[in-house]
Amino acid sequence: MKKIKCLITAGPTREHFDPVRYISNPSSGKMGWFIAQASKEFGWDTTLVLGPSALPNIDGVNVERVVSAEDMLSVCRKHFDDCHILIMSAAVSDVRPKMFINHKAKKNEIDLNPQLERTPDILLTLSKEKGNKVLIGFAAETQNVLEYAKGKLEQKNLDAIVANNVGQASTGFASDDNKIDVILRTGEVIDFPQASKKELANSLIKFLSDRFFK
Ligand code: PMT
Repeated sequence: MKKIKCLITAGPTREHFDPVRYISNPSSGKMGWFIAQASKEFGWDTTLVLGPSALPNIDGVNVERVVSAEDMLSVCRKHFDDCHILIMSAAVSDVRPKMFINHKAKKNEIDLNPQLERTPDILLTLSKEKGNKVLIGFAAETQNVLEYAKGKLEQKNLDAIVANNVGQASTGFASDDNKIDVILRTGEVIDFPQASKKELANSLIKFLSDRFFK
């Protein structure tokens, strides 16, 4: 049997406007980090592309650390051709400042109405070269969770999307627990009850293996 090669992203990205200031979000990286650990323990060949996070490396996982969305895209591109499945759990910043000042800006240098531009959509970009690969997205939502997640599944040509309600403190960003629903292209919704991110990661990898590689 072939060894499954799994590419996972996790954590936030930081979009700097000077060396010490940036746009980002509260992702800790835990969800994707546990998915990478589960993938490795499941016997998959695992690469984790990790945005800024305090989490350590994982023995037996190729961990590549990145800062910005642009960096994350370029490292993902490097591994994408060779992977069988991409699980995109990173909370990629959707916007970045247009300008970068290459020293710590003095207070009066900071533009109070900075111009922003969109970051590259990594999943959308890679989905154009999907071929036979399995593409799994995440959707972090605070309202109309399943409906918005289904929209992203279609828009980004995914095989499945993990809908994540991030409107409660006990689940979602930076918490130890999470609550997810996996939506398949067929419209089927699989409810994964609230559990630790570690337990959910194990269940998710087992589910994806059964569904896509049996
Ligand atoms: O890291 P933790 O603290 O453990 O928190 C986990 C989590 C809440 C971050 C995680 O479970 C989660 O929901 N991740 C997805 C966050 C997100 O950015 O969702 P989104 O709905 O904005 O994006 C949809 C999909 O497109 C995601 O797979 C995202 O990785 C991808 N995307 C988004 C923007 C962008 N520029 N490029 C992308 O590839």
